[in-house]
Amino acid sequence: MTCGNDTAVNTAPAAADLAAASPVCSYTEWDPLEEVVVGIVDEACFPPWHVALPPVLPANQHETFRDNAGEPFPPERVAAARRELDEFVRVLEAEGVTVRRPEPVPQNTPYSTPDWSSTGMYAAMPRDALLVVGDEIIECPMAWRSRYYETLAYRPLLKAYFHGGARWTAGPKPELTDAQFDQKWTDDGDHDPPNLVVTEFEPTFDAADFTRCGRDIIAQKSNVTNEFGIEWLRRHLGDEYRVHTFEFRDTHPMHIDATIVPMAPGKLLINPERVPVVPALFRGWDVLEAPAPILPDSHPLYMTSKWINMNILMLDEDRVIVERQDEPMIQALKNFGFTPILCNFRNFNSFGGSFHCATLDVRRRGSLQSYF
Ligand code: NVA
Repeated sequence: MTCGNDTAVNTAPAAADLAAASPVCSYTEWDPLEEVVVGIVDEACFPPWHVALPPVLPANQHETFRDNAGEPFPPERVAAARRELDEFVRVLEAEGVTVRRPEPVPQNTPYSTPDWSSTGMYAAMPRDALLVVGDEIIECPMAWRSRYYETLAYRPLLKAYFHGGARWTAGPKPELTDAQFDQKWTDDGDHDPPNLVVTEFEPTFDAADFTRCGRDIIAQKSNVTNEFGIEWLRRHLGDEYRVHTFEFRDTHPMHIDATIVPMAPGKLLINPERVPVVPALFRGWDVLEAPAPILPDSHPLYMTSKWINMNILMLDEDRVIVERQDEPMIQALKNFGFTPILCNFRNFNSFGGSFHCATLDVRRRGSLQSYF
Protein backbone atom coordinates (compact mmCIF):
# COMPACT_ATOMS: atom_id res chain seq x y z
CA MET A 1 0.00 0.00 0.00
CA THR A 2 1.22 3.48 -0.76
CA CYS A 3 0.27 7.06 0.01
CA GLY A 4 0.79 9.98 -2.36
CA ASN A 5 -0.66 11.90 -5.20
CA ASP A 6 1.14 10.20 -8.04
CA THR A 7 -1.35 7.41 -8.76
CA ALA A 8 -2.12 6.85 -12.47
CA VAL A 9 -5.55 8.35 -13.20
CA ASN A 10 -6.74 6.44 -16.26
CA THR A 11 -6.50 2.89 -14.92
CA ALA A 12 -8.92 1.20 -12.52
CA PRO A 13 -7.32 1.37 -9.06
CA ALA A 14 -5.95 -1.94 -7.82
CA ALA A 15 -6.99 -2.81 -4.27
CA ALA A 16 -3.45 -2.09 -3.12
CA ASP A 17 -3.70 1.46 -4.49
CA LEU A 18 -6.98 2.34 -2.81
CA ALA A 19 -5.15 3.91 0.12
CA ALA A 20 -3.39 6.22 -2.32
CA ALA A 21 -6.76 7.79 -3.11
CA SER A 22 -7.43 8.60 0.53
CA PRO A 23 -6.76 12.05 1.97
CA VAL A 24 -5.72 10.20 5.13
CA CYS A 25 -2.62 8.04 4.80
CA SER A 26 0.28 7.79 7.24
CA TYR A 27 2.29 4.80 8.40
CA THR A 28 5.26 6.29 10.23
CA GLU A 29 6.45 9.27 12.25
CA TRP A 30 8.92 10.29 9.53
CA ASP A 31 7.59 9.85 5.98
CA PRO A 32 7.34 13.21 4.13
CA LEU A 33 4.52 15.19 5.74
CA GLU A 34 1.90 16.52 3.33
CA GLU A 35 -1.05 17.42 5.56
CA VAL A 36 -1.42 17.91 9.28
CA VAL A 37 -4.04 18.98 11.81
CA VAL A 38 -2.78 21.53 14.33
CA GLY A 39 -4.73 21.91 17.57
CA ILE A 40 -6.25 25.08 19.03
CA VAL A 41 -6.31 26.53 22.54
CA ASP A 42 -9.59 28.40 22.10
CA GLU A 43 -12.03 27.74 24.93
CA ALA A 44 -9.40 25.78 26.92
CA CYS A 45 -10.64 25.00 30.45
CA PHE A 46 -9.26 23.22 33.48
CA PRO A 47 -10.96 19.81 33.70
CA PRO A 48 -13.14 19.00 36.71
CA TRP A 49 -11.12 17.35 39.46
CA HIS A 50 -11.16 13.55 39.21
CA VAL A 51 -9.18 10.56 40.49
CA ALA A 52 -7.63 10.12 37.00
CA LEU A 53 -5.75 13.44 37.24
CA PRO A 54 -3.28 13.21 40.15
CA PRO A 55 -1.41 10.22 38.66
CA VAL A 56 -0.19 12.40 35.78
CA LEU A 57 -0.37 16.06 36.76
CA PRO A 58 2.83 17.57 38.18
CA ALA A 59 2.50 17.60 41.98
CA ASN A 60 2.85 21.39 42.07
CA GLN A 61 -0.26 21.76 39.88
CA HIS A 62 -2.78 19.75 41.92
CA GLU A 63 -3.91 22.72 43.94
CA THR A 64 -4.30 24.89 40.83
CA PHE A 65 -6.44 22.23 39.16
CA ARG A 66 -8.58 21.69 42.27
CA ASP A 67 -9.09 25.45 42.70
CA ASN A 68 -9.88 26.14 39.04
CA ALA A 69 -11.86 23.01 38.11
CA GLY A 70 -14.10 23.79 35.13
CA GLU A 71 -12.77 27.36 34.80
CA PRO A 72 -11.00 28.77 31.74
CA PHE A 73 -7.20 28.71 31.69
CA PRO A 74 -5.72 32.19 32.28
CA PRO A 75 -6.54 34.26 29.17
CA GLU A 76 -3.03 35.73 28.87
CA ARG A 77 -1.55 32.21 28.81
CA VAL A 78 -4.09 31.11 26.20
CA ALA A 79 -3.26 34.16 24.08
CA ALA A 80 0.49 33.50 24.28
CA ALA A 81 -0.01 29.85 23.30
CA ARG A 82 -2.30 30.88 20.43
CA ARG A 83 0.38 33.21 19.05
CA GLU A 84 2.87 30.33 19.06
CA LEU A 85 0.39 28.01 17.36
CA ASP A 86 -0.03 30.64 14.64
CA GLU A 87 3.75 30.80 14.24
CA PHE A 88 3.86 26.98 14.07
CA VAL A 89 1.24 26.99 11.31
CA ARG A 90 3.27 29.56 9.34
CA VAL A 91 6.43 27.45 9.74
CA LEU A 92 4.64 24.30 8.55
CA GLU A 93 3.09 26.07 5.56
CA ALA A 94 6.45 27.59 4.61
CA GLU A 95 7.82 24.02 4.56
CA GLY A 96 5.08 23.01 2.12
CA VAL A 97 2.71 21.28 4.55
CA THR A 98 -1.07 21.75 4.30
CA VAL A 99 -2.48 22.66 7.73
CA ARG A 100 -6.04 22.06 8.95
CA ARG A 101 -7.52 23.23 12.25
CA PRO A 102 -10.37 21.90 14.42
CA GLU A 103 -13.47 23.98 15.18
CA PRO A 104 -13.61 25.77 18.53
CA VAL A 105 -16.20 24.01 20.72
CA PRO A 106 -17.40 25.46 24.06
CA GLN A 107 -15.60 23.44 26.71
CA ASN A 108 -17.43 24.70 29.80
CA THR A 109 -20.86 23.32 28.81
CA PRO A 110 -21.76 20.56 31.28
CA TYR A 111 -22.60 17.13 29.89
CA SER A 112 -23.52 13.90 31.59
CA THR A 113 -24.02 10.17 31.21
CA PRO A 114 -26.29 8.08 33.47
CA ASP A 115 -23.32 7.77 35.87
CA TRP A 116 -21.39 11.05 35.96
CA SER A 117 -21.18 14.58 34.65
CA SER A 118 -18.27 16.70 33.51
CA THR A 119 -17.14 19.63 31.43
CA GLY A 120 -14.52 19.51 28.69
CA MET A 121 -10.90 20.62 28.40
CA TYR A 122 -9.69 21.65 24.94
CA ALA A 123 -8.89 20.64 21.36
CA ALA A 124 -5.21 21.50 21.65
CA MET A 125 -3.73 18.01 21.27
CA PRO A 126 -5.11 16.13 18.28
CA ARG A 127 -2.34 13.52 18.82
CA ASP A 128 -4.12 12.31 21.96
CA ALA A 129 -7.62 11.92 20.59
CA LEU A 130 -7.13 10.59 17.05
CA LEU A 131 -4.92 7.84 15.66
CA VAL A 132 -4.04 7.58 11.99
CA VAL A 133 -2.89 4.16 10.78
CA GLY A 134 -2.67 3.92 7.01
CA ASP A 135 -5.85 5.30 5.46
CA GLU A 136 -7.82 4.90 8.68
CA ILE A 137 -8.50 7.60 11.25
CA ILE A 138 -9.61 6.26 14.63
CA GLU A 139 -11.40 8.21 17.35
CA CYS A 140 -9.87 6.93 20.58
CA PRO A 141 -11.87 5.78 23.62
CA MET A 142 -10.18 8.24 25.98
CA ALA A 143 -10.13 7.62 29.72
CA TRP A 144 -10.58 11.17 31.00
CA ARG A 145 -14.20 12.15 31.47
CA SER A 146 -13.24 15.71 30.52
CA ARG A 147 -12.14 14.42 27.11
CA TYR A 148 -15.28 12.38 26.38
CA TYR A 149 -16.44 14.67 23.60
CA GLU A 150 -13.04 16.00 22.54
CA THR A 151 -13.27 14.63 19.01
CA LEU A 152 -16.37 16.76 18.28
CA ALA A 153 -14.02 19.64 17.45
CA TYR A 154 -12.57 17.49 14.66
CA ARG A 155 -15.85 16.16 13.27
CA PRO A 156 -16.04 18.61 10.32
CA LEU A 157 -12.56 17.43 9.30
CA LEU A 158 -13.38 13.77 9.88
CA LYS A 159 -16.48 14.02 7.73
CA ALA A 160 -14.55 15.73 4.95
CA TYR A 161 -11.79 13.09 5.09
CA PHE A 162 -14.42 10.35 4.99
CA HIS A 163 -16.09 11.92 1.96
CA GLY A 164 -12.64 12.08 0.37
CA GLY A 165 -12.16 8.33 0.77
CA ALA A 166 -10.63 7.82 4.23
CA ARG A 167 -11.78 5.09 6.59
CA TRP A 168 -13.24 6.60 9.79
CA THR A 169 -13.78 4.47 12.87
CA ALA A 170 -14.09 4.84 16.65
CA GLY A 171 -13.12 2.63 19.56
CA PRO A 172 -15.92 1.32 21.80
CA LYS A 173 -17.50 4.28 23.57
CA PRO A 174 -16.35 3.84 27.19
CA GLU A 175 -18.71 4.12 30.15
CA LEU A 176 -16.02 5.67 32.40
CA THR A 177 -17.89 4.66 35.52
CA ASP A 178 -16.01 4.49 38.82
CA ALA A 179 -15.16 0.86 37.97
CA GLN A 180 -12.70 2.10 35.31
CA PHE A 181 -10.55 3.89 37.91
CA ASP A 182 -8.68 2.63 40.94
CA GLN A 183 -10.48 4.74 43.51
CA LYS A 184 -7.75 3.93 46.04
CA TRP A 185 -4.90 5.03 43.77
CA THR A 186 -1.98 6.46 45.68
CA ASP A 187 1.35 7.68 44.46
CA ASP A 188 3.84 4.87 45.00
CA GLY A 189 6.84 7.02 44.18
CA ASP A 190 9.42 5.11 42.19
CA HIS A 191 7.68 1.73 42.27
CA ASP A 192 8.43 -0.28 39.15
CA PRO A 193 6.04 -0.91 37.44
CA PRO A 194 4.02 2.07 38.68
CA ASN A 195 0.48 1.92 40.01
CA LEU A 196 -1.83 2.82 37.15
CA VAL A 197 -5.14 4.50 37.84
CA VAL A 198 -7.06 2.86 34.98
CA THR A 199 -8.39 -0.64 35.64
CA GLU A 200 -9.17 -3.30 33.03
CA PHE A 201 -12.94 -2.76 33.31
CA GLU A 202 -13.23 -1.70 29.66
CA PRO A 203 -10.84 -0.72 26.85
CA THR A 204 -9.50 2.83 26.95
CA PHE A 205 -6.55 4.37 25.13
CA ASP A 206 -5.13 7.67 23.97
CA ALA A 207 -3.47 7.68 20.55
CA ALA A 208 -0.37 9.28 22.06
CA ASP A 209 0.46 6.04 23.86
CA PHE A 210 1.36 4.58 20.45
CA THR A 211 4.14 5.43 18.03
CA ARG A 212 4.17 4.14 14.47
CA CYS A 213 7.05 2.52 12.59
CA GLY A 214 5.27 1.02 9.57
CA ARG A 215 4.12 -2.53 10.29
CA ASP A 216 5.41 -2.22 13.87
CA ILE A 217 3.54 -0.02 16.33
CA ILE A 218 5.03 0.59 19.77
CA ALA A 219 2.61 0.94 22.69
CA GLN A 220 2.84 1.56 26.39
CA LYS A 221 0.34 0.97 29.17
CA SER A 222 -0.31 4.19 31.02
CA ASN A 223 -2.70 6.03 33.30
CA VAL A 224 -5.09 6.36 30.35
CA THR A 225 -4.25 3.32 28.18
CA ASN A 226 -4.92 -0.17 29.54
CA GLU A 227 -4.09 -3.66 28.31
CA PHE A 228 -7.69 -4.04 27.16
CA GLY A 229 -7.38 -0.91 25.00
CA ILE A 230 -4.11 -2.04 23.44
CA GLU A 231 -5.61 -5.47 22.69
CA TRP A 232 -8.67 -3.86 21.13
CA LEU A 233 -6.44 -1.85 18.81
CA ARG A 234 -4.21 -4.86 18.04
CA ARG A 235 -7.21 -6.95 16.99
CA HIS A 236 -8.81 -4.07 15.16
CA LEU A 237 -5.69 -3.45 13.05
CA GLY A 238 -5.28 -7.15 12.31
CA ASP A 239 -2.40 -9.14 10.88
CA GLU A 240 -0.85 -6.37 8.81
CA TYR A 241 0.48 -4.73 11.99
CA ARG A 242 2.45 -5.89 15.02
CA VAL A 243 1.59 -3.95 18.17
CA HIS A 244 4.41 -4.26 20.73
CA THR A 245 3.81 -3.23 24.33
CA PHE A 246 6.94 -1.98 26.07
CA GLU A 247 7.39 -0.89 29.66
CA PHE A 248 9.52 2.13 30.42
CA ARG A 249 10.77 3.58 33.67
CA ASP A 250 8.10 6.27 33.83
CA THR A 251 6.62 6.63 37.28
CA HIS A 252 3.57 8.54 36.00
CA PRO A 253 3.09 7.39 32.40
CA MET A 254 0.71 9.17 30.05
CA HIS A 255 1.75 9.32 26.38
CA ILE A 256 4.84 7.76 24.90
CA ASP A 257 6.10 10.74 22.91
CA ALA A 258 8.37 12.20 25.59
CA THR A 259 9.87 8.76 26.23
CA ILE A 260 10.76 7.11 22.94
CA VAL A 261 10.68 8.91 19.59
CA PRO A 262 11.49 7.07 16.34
CA MET A 263 12.85 9.85 14.07
CA ALA A 264 13.77 8.00 10.87
CA PRO A 265 14.56 4.43 9.86
CA GLY A 266 17.47 3.44 12.12
CA LYS A 267 17.37 6.62 14.27
CA LEU A 268 15.82 6.73 17.71
CA LEU A 269 15.56 9.51 20.31
CA ILE A 270 15.17 8.28 23.89
CA ASN A 271 14.55 9.75 27.28
CA PRO A 272 17.68 8.80 29.25
CA GLU A 273 15.77 8.60 32.55
CA ARG A 274 12.90 6.50 31.26
CA VAL A 275 14.67 4.17 28.82
CA PRO A 276 17.56 2.57 30.70
CA VAL A 277 17.59 -0.29 28.19
CA VAL A 278 16.59 0.25 24.56
CA PRO A 279 14.03 -2.40 23.55
CA ALA A 280 15.65 -5.23 21.57
CA LEU A 281 13.37 -4.44 18.64
CA PHE A 282 15.57 -1.41 17.95
CA ARG A 283 18.81 -3.41 17.88
CA GLY A 284 21.13 -1.87 15.31
CA TRP A 285 19.44 1.56 15.40
CA ASP A 286 21.45 4.67 16.27
CA VAL A 287 20.24 6.02 19.59
CA LEU A 288 20.37 9.61 20.79
CA GLU A 289 19.79 10.32 24.47
CA ALA A 290 17.74 13.50 24.70
CA PRO A 291 19.68 16.34 26.29
CA ALA A 292 18.40 17.51 29.66
CA PRO A 293 15.52 20.00 29.35
CA ILE A 294 16.39 23.66 29.95
CA LEU A 295 12.96 25.13 30.73
CA PRO A 296 13.31 27.28 33.85
CA ASP A 297 11.41 26.15 36.96
CA SER A 298 9.46 29.40 36.84
CA HIS A 299 7.84 28.43 33.52
CA PRO A 300 4.40 26.89 34.22
CA LEU A 301 3.84 23.36 32.95
CA TYR A 302 0.27 22.48 33.86
CA MET A 303 0.32 18.87 32.77
CA THR A 304 3.73 17.49 31.87
CA SER A 305 7.31 17.15 32.93
CA LYS A 306 10.05 19.23 31.32
CA TRP A 307 10.83 16.26 29.05
CA ILE A 308 8.26 17.76 26.75
CA ASN A 309 11.42 19.06 25.01
CA MET A 310 11.55 15.62 23.28
CA ASN A 311 8.14 16.06 21.71
CA ILE A 312 9.47 17.03 18.29
CA LEU A 313 7.75 16.67 14.90
CA MET A 314 9.46 15.09 11.91
CA LEU A 315 8.64 16.68 8.53
CA ASP A 316 10.58 13.91 6.77
CA GLU A 317 13.69 11.84 7.45
CA ASP A 318 15.77 15.04 7.67
CA ARG A 319 13.75 18.06 8.83
CA VAL A 320 12.57 18.25 12.42
CA ILE A 321 10.64 20.99 14.24
CA VAL A 322 12.31 21.95 17.52
CA GLU A 323 11.62 24.60 20.17
CA ARG A 324 13.50 27.77 19.23
CA GLN A 325 15.11 28.33 22.64
CA ASP A 326 16.12 24.71 23.20
CA GLU A 327 19.76 25.11 22.14
CA PRO A 328 20.96 21.76 23.61
CA MET A 329 18.29 19.85 21.66
CA ILE A 330 18.97 21.85 18.49
CA GLN A 331 22.68 21.02 18.67
CA ALA A 332 22.08 17.37 19.57
CA LEU A 333 19.74 16.87 16.62
CA LYS A 334 22.19 18.57 14.24
CA ASN A 335 24.94 16.27 15.47
CA PHE A 336 22.59 13.31 14.99
CA GLY A 337 22.31 14.27 11.30
CA PHE A 338 19.04 16.21 11.19
CA THR A 339 18.06 19.70 10.04
CA PRO A 340 16.23 21.50 12.87
CA ILE A 341 13.52 24.00 11.95
CA LEU A 342 12.87 26.37 14.83
CA CYS A 343 9.61 27.61 16.29
CA ASN A 344 8.74 29.28 19.59
CA PHE A 345 6.54 26.95 21.62
CA ARG A 346 7.23 27.35 25.34
CA ASN A 347 3.90 28.99 26.04
CA PHE A 348 2.08 26.22 24.24
CA ASN A 349 4.14 23.68 26.24
CA SER A 350 2.37 24.95 29.36
CA PHE A 351 -0.82 23.28 28.13
CA GLY A 352 0.63 19.77 28.14
CA GLY A 353 2.37 19.14 24.85
CA SER A 354 4.74 20.25 22.17
CA PHE A 355 4.92 19.85 18.38
CA HIS A 356 4.06 16.15 18.27
CA CYS A 357 1.15 16.42 20.70
CA ALA A 358 -0.20 19.52 18.96
CA THR A 359 -0.47 17.74 15.62
CA LEU A 360 -2.05 14.80 13.86
CA ASP A 361 -0.22 13.81 10.72
CA VAL A 362 -3.05 13.11 8.36
CA ARG A 363 -1.00 12.34 5.28
CA ARG A 364 2.64 11.36 4.85
CA ARG A 365 3.94 10.21 1.47
CA GLY A 366 5.11 6.63 1.88
CA SER A 367 4.19 2.99 1.86
CA LEU A 368 3.59 0.31 4.47
CA GLN A 369 6.98 -1.23 5.24
CA SER A 370 8.86 -3.19 7.89
CA TYR A 371 11.77 -1.36 9.47
CA PHE A 372 12.99 -4.11 11.79
N1 NVA B 1 3.55 12.58 30.19
C1 NVA B 1 4.77 13.02 29.56
C2 NVA B 1 4.52 13.90 28.36
C3 NVA B 1 4.08 13.16 27.17
C4 NVA B 1 3.92 14.01 25.94
C5 NVA B 1 5.58 13.82 30.54
O1 NVA B 1 5.03 14.47 31.41
O2 NVA B 1 6.81 13.84 30.41
